Amino acid sequence: MNKKIALLQQKRDEALKGGGEQRIESQHKKGKLTARERLHFLLDEGSFEEIGMLVTHRSVDFGMQKEQYPGDGVVTGYGTVNGRTVYVFSQDFTVFGGSLSETHAEKICRIMDLALQNGAPVIGLNDSGGARIQEGVVSLGGYADIFYRNTLASGVVPQLSAIMGPCAGGAVYSPAITDFILMVEHTSYMFVTGPGVVKTVTHEQVTSEELGGAGTHATKSGVTHFACANEIQALDRLKQLLSYMPQNCEESAPSLPYEAADERREKLDDILPENVSHPYDVREVIGEVIDEGTFLEVHKDFAENIVVGFARLAGKSIGIVANQPAFLAGVLDNHSSVKGARFVRFCDSFNIPLLVFEDVPGFLPGTDQEWNAIITNGAKLLYAFCEATVPRITVITRKAYGGAYDVMNSKHIGADMNYAWPSAEIAVMGAKGAAEIIFKREISAAADPQARWIEKEKEYSDIFANPYRAAERGFIDEVIEPSQTRAKLIRAFKMLENKVVNNPRKKHGNIPL
Ligand code: COA
Repeated sequence: MNKKIALLQQKRDEALKGGGEQRIESQHKKGKLTARERLHFLLDEGSFEEIGMLVTHRSVDFGMQKEQYPGDGVVTGYGTVNGRTVYVFSQDFTVFGGSLSETHAEKICRIMDLALQNGAPVIGLNDSGGARIQEGVVSLGGYADIFYRNTLASGVVPQLSAIMGPCAGGAVYSPAITDFILMVEHTSYMFVTGPGVVKTVTHEQVTSEELGGAGTHATKSGVTHFACANEIQALDRLKQLLSYMPQNCEESAPSLPYEAADERREKLDDILPENVSHPYDVREVIGEVIDEGTFLEVHKDFAENIVVGFARLAGKSIGIVANQPAFLAGVLDNHSSVKGARFVRFCDSFNIPLLVFEDVPGFLPGTDQEWNAIITNGAKLLYAFCEATVPRITVITRKAYGGAYDVMNSKHIGADMNYAWPSAEIAVMGAKGAAEIIFKREISAAADPQARWIEKEKEYSDIFANPYRAAERGFIDEVIEPSQTRAKLIRAFKMLENKVVNNPRKKHGNIPL
């Protein structure tokens, strides 16, 4: 028996070496960890159970049968993060550049099947040169097998992707279907076609970093939700993200203990600028309302006119969507609508209640917006809120103008509670513009048109630049002092804890894409 155990140990040792010392050294020189080191930092100590350690590829073309590495370029299995089960795959760049062979894909599919069957998140650590070139179409088939499972798992278990090296060509579409993408600055990139092909086809000169680095995708395309300074930060961010999520769509996110205390937050009474057209940072409002220091902002540097992220309120996980008056006056546009919609849908899929802070002057006008389909994109956010069945509460801090009032989680589209601060202005548009349109003739006929305009603006403002018209209709459930916000929200979310909504039965909706 001892000899047999020794043989097993020898095989294990071989697998642990990956592509060998030299390639591991070259991986480290690039500032990258190996596949196994990453799992070591991600998972609770000693919790990793590997599956398929001795799997090898079946390829025989180009003399491939002579080059075999146990594990075939991907480490797969399960373990725990803060005591909760997760399924993981970690691509090993030291073995054929982490490229995806038929068997490499089978290993990933196996842990995805287990995750779906047993209801736990899937985490993919991507570091791969793409399809295993020596294998041709079987490798492409392997990608498709993964994409199919990503789609089946979408909305059933959380799926998180960290990009820690190359991720190009077809490889990008698995992370793209998952719920969140994290990238590491300067050592990772994602693109459908690399700089060489770009140069041939469009004659553009661009580096990998410019084309698809973490900075690019965190600011310009919004493909990545987080750009992390290094791999350790990315792995920590994954753990933090998981802490706000349930294991699957049938469960609730874990809560932290909460002891009732004085929940008044006096600072909120003075947080808005005196002048209603002056900006303020909505993150300060969020920070005062939630449990201290619990905000995890998603998509921080993309479409900054809307702020989205996870937080805790009285220990419970919530998703926050907030207009950001400090950026483009918090207007809704193409990117912010899509950003908001995707976040709302994630929260709704996984039973995370939604809190909306509203201060929105409307949709951004212009040819750029219209030609890039603000109609369709704005509808995404509207649709996402309409279909969400989790507890939903809105706090209108200042402006709630026009169609954006409806879109931002109004009572009319299924929100459970709408609160307004006394500073709220709920109207079709700002008083100045409104007066100009509806009193146009009267203003131009006046002896002093400017004075008449100001007079009419005041008249409109007195009627509509407040929350009371909406409160009279019941569109606003309560006008509250800002300092009461936290206390009101804690109670209201508790009241909504067992919310059940039965929307009409359907195969699935057709969100405007
Ligand atoms: N299939 C098979 N082997 C691959 C591979 C692939 N797709 N991509 C990389 N490798 C191998 C390389 O042959 C090399 O093997 P070696 O260690 O035995 O020399 C090893 O992985 C590392 O690749 P290398 O090119 O030396 O690393 P790099 O850091 O300089 O470059 C890439 C990384 C990903 C930019 C580069 O390898 C590349 O362009 N790969 C092909 C990408 C592609 O077109 N994929 C197919 C379409 S999806």
